[in-house]
Amino acid sequence: MCGIIGIAALLGKTPQRPGLMVYKGLLRLEYRGYDSAGIASISGDRIHVLKGKGKIADLEKKLCLSCIDGLTVIGHTRWATHGAPNDINAHPHTDCSGKIAVVHNGIIQNFRELKQMLVSRGHIFKSETDTEVVPHLVEEFYKKFGNLYEAFKQAIKMLHGSYALVLISTYEPNKLFFAKKDSPLIIGLGEGFNILASDIPALLEYTRRIVTVRDDWIGYVSPTEIHVEDLSTSNIVDWSRYIRIVEWSLEDATRSGFPHFMLKEIHEQPRALKDTFYGIQSDAAVAKAVKLLLEADKIYVTGAGTSYHACFFYSLTSSILAKRIVYHFIASEYPVYTGTAGENDVLIVVSQSGETMDALKALRAFRERGVKTIAVSNVVDSAIPRESDIAIYTRAGPEIGVAATKTFTTQTLVLSWLTISHGEAYGVLLRSEAEELRKWLSMSSELVARVISWNESLARSLAEWLSRKGNAYYLSRGIGVPVAMEGALKLKEIAYIHAEAYPAGESKHGPIALVEEEYPVVFTIPKHEELEKTLLGNIQEMKARGAVIIGVAPEDTILKDQLDYWFKVPSTHWILTPITHTPPQQLLAYHTAVRRGYDPDKPRNLAKTVTVE
Ligand code: AGP
Repeated sequence: MCGIIGIAALLGKTPQRPGLMVYKGLLRLEYRGYDSAGIASISGDRIHVLKGKGKIADLEKKLCLSCIDGLTVIGHTRWATHGAPNDINAHPHTDCSGKIAVVHNGIIQNFRELKQMLVSRGHIFKSETDTEVVPHLVEEFYKKFGNLYEAFKQAIKMLHGSYALVLISTYEPNKLFFAKKDSPLIIGLGEGFNILASDIPALLEYTRRIVTVRDDWIGYVSPTEIHVEDLSTSNIVDWSRYIRIVEWSLEDATRSGFPHFMLKEIHEQPRALKDTFYGIQSDAAVAKAVKLLLEADKIYVTGAGTSYHACFFYSLTSSILAKRIVYHFIASEYPVYTGTAGENDVLIVVSQSGETMDALKALRAFRERGVKTIAVSNVVDSAIPRESDIAIYTRAGPEIGVAATKTFTTQTLVLSWLTISHGEAYGVLLRSEAEELRKWLSMSSELVARVISWNESLARSLAEWLSRKGNAYYLSRGIGVPVAMEGALKLKEIAYIHAEAYPAGESKHGPIALVEEEYPVVFTIPKHEELEKTLLGNIQEMKARGAVIIGVAPEDTILKDQLDYWFKVPSTHWILTPITHTPPQQLLAYHTAVRRGYDPDKPRNLAKTVTVE
């Protein structure tokens, strides 16, 4: 996720200098990404660019971003997906002539092929980013057509992936050119100026009249003109039909109108999974990681908290799909395992922040033994990816809420992709089987959107009852157990209700002694015939002791008559269990915490990133 903003203005018609407006807009988009930033404007017959690594306020001190002159200005605050956060990779990016500049939010999947073609035509690239292909493509087509908008359209037609793009050029100095697919973009309507931005907070101080840009829309805005076409039909769009007035306060707008970042981030999972899927299927690091796994004697995987749950899930899928035992351990327990590892082994470290000290210490201890290491993280160039041999990234965007939500589901997507690639390369999965599994993963985004819409109201109503409880069990079997553990952790860390997760078969070996009338038991029921059959007995033994059975189960489950409350999820492949079965448990924990009067974004005693041992 990145933040982009642009303004096209008439002299004297804006409430503040356009450069200052863009700078302030970037500050209000910083929640979307903040590892580097930049600003560019048309100044005479050249484009002036100020950009660099670091937070916007620090760059203001160093470069005075807000001092930039000009009436056509664009800005960008970055959450790196391709290329480390540094001065060169920061946006805006320009073409060879320096007469075209672009800011971008999204992932251009086919950027490597496009870059190769452009380099073969003599274009000189400066950055490692996917974005930089856009100004060079437009430059190439401008040479051919001599018309900037036509050149822009032709360039956009060559892009695969997700993008919200804003382009400026000295060829048409008072226009912002834009294109949108899968990444958000809105037009803010002013008097004598118009604004383009990723999100409402960036423009709310200057206008409340907006148009939400739809997928495949392309066009340009000047201070007094707005032109929009639908690229899929080539029809002109009557954009005025889509004008709406924003009633939000600035604070509401930063959370997109949600009461808490955690709820916003739960609802962001469709977008986060789509971006992660776009990224992982074209990530060259996966093939390198699979090569290491194939050559490994032993494979270990480690993480803390929610990331450990993703590790556990990975270990189970690896046994089932790649027929390889993966030793999963909680990061802080690394001293127990280090001595067993050697230079022919591989360790995978999972950490959304990439800064968790327990995980970093485990990584370093294993590296000292000559172990090859693979990082799975959400923050490009953070400590754990930086110190690993290979880094594979989720693309969930910044996660502000202390409780992990979208980073967990995107972690399991990446790890499942890795397992499938490993199983196929290892000869355990037929190509057709691997392709079918990847097809299931490609549906993650739409499936999780359905899960959330199906279950939010039950989560809210059930929270009323659960908020008065002091304990709960979260049970499952097999690949459902890590998901049950994640559900229990959510309830503990934001609603402060004790919740224990364990494999359901263990109940009769002790835990069932705790169960009494009205005791809450949440069952994660995967789409898996064997598991469903064995879970039947576990549910019945709980019901016999008066427990209230809350099931997260597929729409065609054979257990529906056993459930007191049923969070229904689409019937899919079991590999999607974390993605389909976790959101209802996130929502249940969230609404229970709110019912109990707590702030889910800032739970007591906890920090978003635990950089101490
Ligand atoms: C999860 O909701 C918690 N915030 C916590 O357990 C977290 O998952 C853990 O601290 C690991 O963080 P990481 O993924 O950034 O390494």
